Amino acid sequence: MSESSSGQIDHVLDESRLFPPPAEFTQKAVIGSIEQYDELYARARDDRDGFWRQEALEHLHWFQPFDQVCKWEPPHAEWFVGGKTNASYNCLDRNIELGLGDRPAIIWEGEPGDTRTLTYSELKTEVSKCAAALRELGIEAGDIVSIYMPMTPELAIAMLACARIGAIHSVIFAGFSAESIADRNQDAQAKMVITSDGLYRRGKVLPLKETVNEALEKSPSVETCLVLKRVGNDVVMKEGRDVWWHDVVDKQSGDLPAEPMDSEATLFILYTSGSTGKPKGIRHTTAGYNLWAKRTFQWVFDHRDDDVYWCTADCGWITGHSYIVYGPLSAGATCLMYEGAPNHPAEDRFWDLVEKYKVTILYTAPTAIRAFIKWGDQHVDKHDLSSLRLLGTVGEGINPEAWMWYHKKIGAEKCPIVDTWWQTETGGIMMSPLPGVTPTKPGSCTKPLPGVVPTILAEDGSAVDQEHGGKLCIQQPWPGMLRGVWGDDDRFVSTYWATFKDAYLTGDNARCDKDGYYWIMGRIDDVINVSGHRLSTIEVESALVSHPAVAEAAVVGRPDECKGEAIAAFVTVTDPNPGEELRQELRNHVRKQIGALAQPDDIRFAASVPKTRSGKIMRRLLRDIAAGREAVGDTSTLEDFTVLAQLREEES
Ligand code: WTA
Repeated sequence: MSESSSGQIDHVLDESRLFPPPAEFTQKAVIGSIEQYDELYARARDDRDGFWRQEALEHLHWFQPFDQVCKWEPPHAEWFVGGKTNASYNCLDRNIELGLGDRPAIIWEGEPGDTRTLTYSELKTEVSKCAAALRELGIEAGDIVSIYMPMTPELAIAMLACARIGAIHSVIFAGFSAESIADRNQDAQAKMVITSDGLYRRGKVLPLKETVNEALEKSPSVETCLVLKRVGNDVVMKEGRDVWWHDVVDKQSGDLPAEPMDSEATLFILYTSGSTGKPKGIRHTTAGYNLWAKRTFQWVFDHRDDDVYWCTADCGWITGHSYIVYGPLSAGATCLMYEGAPNHPAEDRFWDLVEKYKVTILYTAPTAIRAFIKWGDQHVDKHDLSSLRLLGTVGEGINPEAWMWYHKKIGAEKCPIVDTWWQTETGGIMMSPLPGVTPTKPGSCTKPLPGVVPTILAEDGSAVDQEHGGKLCIQQPWPGMLRGVWGDDDRFVSTYWATFKDAYLTGDNARCDKDGYYWIMGRIDDVINVSGHRLSTIEVESALVSHPAVAEAAVVGRPDECKGEAIAAFVTVTDPNPGEELRQELRNHVRKQIGALAQPDDIRFAASVPKTRSGKIMRRLLRDIAAGREAVGDTSTLEDFTVLAQLREEES
């Protein structure tokens, strides 16, 4: 497993500490005994259809009952076939019917400190108004709506409004470039873009509408652009295409009923990076995804009526979809939503929010935890965090040192930590401790949730010693699984199902210890994880070579204390004496092509990039060089040894 690019494996391999849940927590937990978990797990595995039939009937609203629980024709699955439901109904109307209309659904705080609370009833009104406006603007069921917005309540409102009328949302993280937006609009043939004039980030205004205007020049399918006024900066509105949110949404009546949707109607697509250059639109459908998001939320976060739950993710990523919007809102939770940066106006902003809103459950990313450690304990010490009872992490593995700090400093040694492993493709959490019952080991995502049947396979599909590790696969279909790649079924089949027939290939390496605990050991493909953001090295390479000065580029991840992985680029340029200026220009070029999150941290100029005789970039070697490790691998296939020597020289 020396292949792992994250460098943290060595630490977790010796991890043997075990932290049982506090007795007090277990007593009140939704799942309060290991027997209860074992029973649920066994039932879901041995009577899949019976288990999920009961779950779906109990936890979703049905306009029309389904006649088949799971139609599994590998690799295609359909769930709750023949039924009709609506995700917006499940998140809003159903809770109001259950008497939760006056409960806060979203407590929001903007970066400048402005606040807003929406109860379930109020949220339903806002969503209905937005849905009615979308209809008025010509959006129908099945149309694609791109959403490129700041973390304001209107982002969640726009998502739920699409769901309410059966339109398909495609949320694009507001850090992506105009090029990236245009690519996604084109691939999905989006009919509308919802955006805002700008967003606040560390006190500055980012001009979102300006970026969208540039993207729309290359998005011929987009007919309308709906614009929320958030910061009040000057924007250019195009006559006949652009409309203000306050002009079309506010005037609607607010009682638009939710459209009954087929269980398998596409709820959303979300673009994510894979092994190749072009991000793919992961397709999730209505009933199965909704049920998975809701039940995994309830199991993993042990949700109770008086909780104030805060997931610090952005709705531009899957974590925001499943654990800010669909999961917690279906469960009737009160969610804190925060717009801005964790270090604005100061490095204690998160702890200030926890104290102010008496947050009980905090779900964040290891990269954020590492930043907090770096910023210093004094920022934490200023605040009363005693409301917290449960902590979670997502997006990448957590190194034991960061886990221990989270446990001691934030959790006061009384809050269980749920390290949740999952992916955009899985729709929701797949492996995680159940906080009331699973003793945790720092760095392990512990055990599969009910309905998840993992296995670890060797390269050739044979069984391997699970403790040694191999490719992590999932054997059975589960309700939240992706249903496809938008417009490209071949890619869906070849990416996830071609290696092992009937088993979903996750793209992660893992091992399972003698206690049945899983340890994720990094990606097996060319995907890197930078601050919990998923990027393809090939995507960054394509961006670099699109610059006229670049002949060739090779990009790898290297371990980074804070980000998990940093981006290291090796480039061959036409300029015989490249310098700092070109380096900066290339960084800016990647920022413009993809977005700031893809900017290389290191750019090294090289005479050529090392390749095997068959022309493949020797990434393992480059990873070693980028990380400053001695290249110990077999380099006998290296095309040109002088290349290696030159790269080493540059390093010294
Ligand atoms: C990684 C984010 C270790 C993993 C929800 C996966 C993790 C990829 C964990 C998916 C974890 C996510 N421990 N690794 N708890 N959670 N990953 O699609 O490599 O943005 O395949 O979904 O992140 O990233 P994605």
